[in-house]
Amino acid sequence: MRSKVSVIGAGNVGATCAQLIALKGYADVVLVDIVEGLPQGKALDLLEAGPILGYDSYVVGSTDYEETANSEIVVIASGVARKPGMSRDDLLLTNMQIVEGVTRKVVEYSPQCIIIMVTNPLDAMAQLALHVSKFPRHRVVGMAGVLDTARFRTFLAQELKVSVSDVSAYVLGGHGDTMVPLTRLTTVGGIPISELLPPETIERIVDRTRKGGGEIVALLKTGSAYYAPGAAVTQMVDAIILDRKEILPCAAYLEGEYGINGLFVGVPVKLGKRGIEEIIQLQLTPEEKAALEKSAAAVQELVDVMKLS
Ligand code: NAI
Ligand code: 2OP
Repeated sequence: MRSKVSVIGAGNVGATCAQLIALKGYADVVLVDIVEGLPQGKALDLLEAGPILGYDSYVVGSTDYEETANSEIVVIASGVARKPGMSRDDLLLTNMQIVEGVTRKVVEYSPQCIIIMVTNPLDAMAQLALHVSKFPRHRVVGMAGVLDTARFRTFLAQELKVSVSDVSAYVLGGHGDTMVPLTRLTTVGGIPISELLPPETIERIVDRTRKGGGEIVALLKTGSAYYAPGAAVTQMVDAIILDRKEILPCAAYLEGEYGINGLFVGVPVKLGKRGIEEIIQLQLTPEEKAALEKSAAAVQELVDVMKLS
């Protein structure tokens, strides 16, 4: 029997990752939304793309959760997205209500699943899902670092005129302006970027990475990015379904790692069949540690607003 991956929220990110997952051929995909007809229509359209693109994954859409029963993974991408002038944090109160209700349904129908949170503000929504689901921490993981790192790698590859596959990097911290691109550990073909680019160029690229989501919102005007986010979710789904044990930067609930306790923050994790199988502890410099703590403090502020108890 094929694995089942459910995607809650059949909007831009949800539908994009649903197609990318269907293309992999290893899982059937269930798309859920509150808007009647939207998940059914998009799912049918995706199913009809199968004969052309060569996948036979079953894709079904629904407004209730019965079809999602016993999913191996549930991606939560339901909620409102940013409009120009809005920060991710502006979405907190609206998306908090949506994610709380969605998580309850997810747990009811798929009590053993791994939740991949996508909805913003990402780290706070992952914290909410962990709180509501009462899942062990290895089964709730947030998608942000894979996307932020992809943006960082893209900009570096453009600057150096090399393939993105030659650029190795990690962006840690919360999914916001305080994210922490680890420039010291960023290499191109194994060479540290400090040997390839002047500090002011690196700083410009770091700044563009931090504002990468906003750059796309300003261009699109009606919503936020979805192709790269959909691809980032799919890389995480791959790692779990195929038990790849891939080291990826993801939002994970820290219990003392990096000196942070009781909070979701982006760190490198080993992703495999059990979800987060290990939190990788990098040796950070005092400056990097301070930047990560500042980023964690920004996440904590949002978590405090939610008053979870
Ligand atoms: P969208 O507006 O295109 O889609 C959101 C969908 O959620 C809509 O179809 C809406 O009907 C549905 N929805 C709302 N309430 C629901 C509920 N209670 N149950 C089921 N479905 C519900 O938005 P988009 O672009 O797909 O973004 C979705 C979320 O993901 C946003 O919060 C956005 O900020 C976030 N995001 C996070 C990223 C990350 O790196 N973590 C990257 C990109 C987006
Ligand atoms: C992004 O970074 C909106 O969080 C989303 O594109």
